[in-house]
Amino acid sequence: MNTRSVHTRNTDGSSRLDVMNFLNEVAQNYPSAISFASGRPAEQFFDIEAWIGRIPLFVEHFARQHGLPNETARNLIGQYGRTNGIMCDLIARQLALDEGVSCHPRQIVVTTGCQEAMSLCITHLCRHPDDIILTRSPAYIGITGIADMNGIGIVPFASDDSKPLADALEEAIRNARSENKRPRAVYLVPDFDNPTGSVLSHLERQQIIEVCARHGVVILEDNPYGMFRYDGDVVPTMFALDTKGCVVYLGTYSKSICPGLRVGFAVVPEGEMSGGQSGAEMLDALSQAKSFATVNTSQIGQAIAGAILLSEAGSLRKLITPVIHHYRTNRDAMLHSLEDTFSGYEDDVTWNRPDGGFFLTVRLPFEFGRDEAEFCANEHGVLTMPLSFFALGDDGRDRVRLAFSNSDPERIREGIARFGAFVKMRSGRQHQQRSR
Ligand SMILES: Cc1ncc(COP(=O)(O)O)c(C=O)c1O
Repeated sequence: MNTRSVHTRNTDGSSRLDVMNFLNEVAQNYPSAISFASGRPAEQFFDIEAWIGRIPLFVEHFARQHGLPNETARNLIGQYGRTNGIMCDLIARQLALDEGVSCHPRQIVVTTGCQEAMSLCITHLCRHPDDIILTRSPAYIGITGIADMNGIGIVPFASDDSKPLADALEEAIRNARSENKRPRAVYLVPDFDNPTGSVLSHLERQQIIEVCARHGVVILEDNPYGMFRYDGDVVPTMFALDTKGCVVYLGTYSKSICPGLRVGFAVVPEGEMSGGQSGAEMLDALSQAKSFATVNTSQIGQAIAGAILLSEAGSLRKLITPVIHHYRTNRDAMLHSLEDTFSGYEDDVTWNRPDGGFFLTVRLPFEFGRDEAEFCANEHGVLTMPLSFFALGDDGRDRVRLAFSNSDPERIREGIARFGAFVKMRSGRQHQQRSR
């Protein structure tokens, strides 16, 4: 019998596992609506045929590396292959060049998107019925979904700013222990969080590492958006700051190349890790689990990603420069449209100004849940995501996530005007009710 206590309900009563279905359904049911619902990367930058055409570069690289003729290398790439992946050297080089992450290729397991990396890590770390993971709330649906699917408890910490994040985390760890739960991992998106767009400061990162080292808890640092910074100074990754073997770094080429590749990875620390195991033991365990889950990550996908890295001298910076320009323009268009649309409503409607990533959130003077999202789609032709869909507790009920990545300034202006019409109509009604 499963003795874990799990809560898979959203604050609006719907199942968290239904959220993905909701997203897909609204997109299908309202195809002509302007969508700020899903944070898909911008497709006009997918140069699929050209990228596939570069595969010979990877074949040559693989052949040279293993002392093989090109033809044998090509056949091996078409075969079942090494579970931990065939492009670990290129990933290590790209991380060093682009993300300030220094690691050896042997620390890497290549996964079927970052989603598989998260899943392997969580299920490896939480094997006892009382093992739990901690995360901020609201949290990325991918992580709550994995926990829910596997019956693993997921406990929120710090849904408001009333105390320093590390203190809130330490308190959550202590509380969980007092209830005989075993906090095993903290999941964080320190750079341009999905869904909030927020960034953890240098100090917050250091303090969280201290807390986790003290309590033997592993940090899962998920960083799909770190390279998409539009303003401000880069903050070092938690992996780079970690001297205690706490941080497992999770990455992906879904945003910097394209999600269709399904190539992501986990980087495990070397030596003794937080919680007692060694990095090599964790890597072996991930590898063994992966060998039964997906055997290996598509080697064709790896060959494409690897070939892109080879043709770009190891770095993705140049490739994503126009993409960053596009996202920055979209973000600015969304911020300007919000300012124009809600001028005069400054006390009631507020939003954050993310320095990067794909999302921002808007706070409204009323609750915005599934019904409101459906009404907006149906009556106003604009798709948005209630933040309560991502919440683990009662938070986020009056907030909405807006994705600006896969759009353009004109659609953004029109979409925000439509969203504004709904918000004004709704808050006007509320205002009238209050003054009656
Ligand atoms: C925070 C976060 N982590 C992971 C992923 C999934 O990445 P992948 O496509 O590599 O599975 C996403 C995708 O949107 C994301 O926002």
